[in-house]
Amino acid sequence: MTQELGATRRMVLAGGLALAACSREAEAVPSAAAVQGGLKDHAPFPVGAAIRSDLLAEPAYPALVRTHFDQITADWEMKMEAVLEEDGAFDFSRADLVADFARSHGLRLFGHTLIWNEQRPAFFEALKDNRSAFARAYGRYIAEVVSRYRGARGWDVVNEPFNWNGSERRGGIWAETLGEAYIPLAFERARAADPEAVLFLNDYNLEQFPAKRRAFLNLAEGLLKAGVPLGGLGTQTHLNHDTDPGSLGPAMRELGSLGLPVHLSELDFTLKGAGRDRMAALALQARLAGATAEAFASLPEAQRFAFTTWGVRDKDSWLRQPEQEAEFPNDQPLLLDDAGRPKSAFAAVVEAWG
Ligand code: G3I
Repeated sequence: MTQELGATRRMVLAGGLALAACSREAEAVPSAAAVQGGLKDHAPFPVGAAIRSDLLAEPAYPALVRTHFDQITADWEMKMEAVLEEDGAFDFSRADLVADFARSHGLRLFGHTLIWNEQRPAFFEALKDNRSAFARAYGRYIAEVVSRYRGARGWDVVNEPFNWNGSERRGGIWAETLGEAYIPLAFERARAADPEAVLFLNDYNLEQFPAKRRAFLNLAEGLLKAGVPLGGLGTQTHLNHDTDPGSLGPAMRELGSLGLPVHLSELDFTLKGAGRDRMAALALQARLAGATAEAFASLPEAQRFAFTTWGVRDKDSWLRQPEQEAEFPNDQPLLLDDAGRPKSAFAAVVEAWG
């Protein structure tokens, strides 16, 4: 019994401390209630989101997208897994839903992604032993997709050329068959298909791992020196609860050091690992969101390509898909809550953009 009382007392005390911490954190965290207008209304640069074609049928979702964003990225619909059939035929039905939504609402479209080591379509597996046929199909795929969506503001031409910490290159079936030439070849075919689109190299963990950031920048510099039409750098910015807010400014400045446009391309802030106190975790998230927004806004105007969150509402996030949900249920990684209401993180971003 005594033990239980002790435990109860400890819980009450912890609760009290947590509330105090929350109230302290709450004081430090801007209130979402006061925020007026859409996120894009507070930014002097494009504000984007990854959207899902299946959600466009929901009553509230399209209006929410149009209120807060002026650029959209297809979550998965423009990837090989959605576009390329086993026999090499193209199925643009899902991708067209996203492109048509952008066009009918005057939103910028950002293409994601042409070549990704995580995609190993059966059609290309079957061509692995015939390098020239593989290379022809590779070029044709890129040409077909990019020319269909000509007018897109940009493309993630190659996604995630490195492993998680930058210690190894990750080229998947593309590097296995074409060698490192898979990267310049992809950029050249994309450029030929759309002379206007800004062509990006995109990767993750570039904030948390300075060594990966340097490896990524070295690769980009080498491509530029070789005359590859690399036009921009994408930093996915999937941040963890323990990311140091002070590290974001230096990271963004280093990513801007080549003078190319920077796309903060897949922003979210998982609460996984942030402890049981959701209020305190959301207060931390808000501080990190504010620091991220400030770091991006500190880039020279010509280099601020877009500030894109990877999803619209918390419940739309990939971090709420079955595999991630099983590990950490009910994550709240985005700027709008499950109901589409601005969170403290949203208010912190707006405040950072002043
Ligand atoms: O909704 C369809 C369903 O109708 C269909 O029957 C089924 C067939 O497999 O697919 C379902 O779509 C799934 C889609 O997510 C929407 O939920 C796809 O299977 C699934 O592969 C897809 O996962 C996406 C993943 O990339 C792989 O493409 C995630 O949503 C997407 O958020 C995630 O995004 C990646 C970026 O592209 C690169 N950076 C990391 C980021 C997170 O992993």
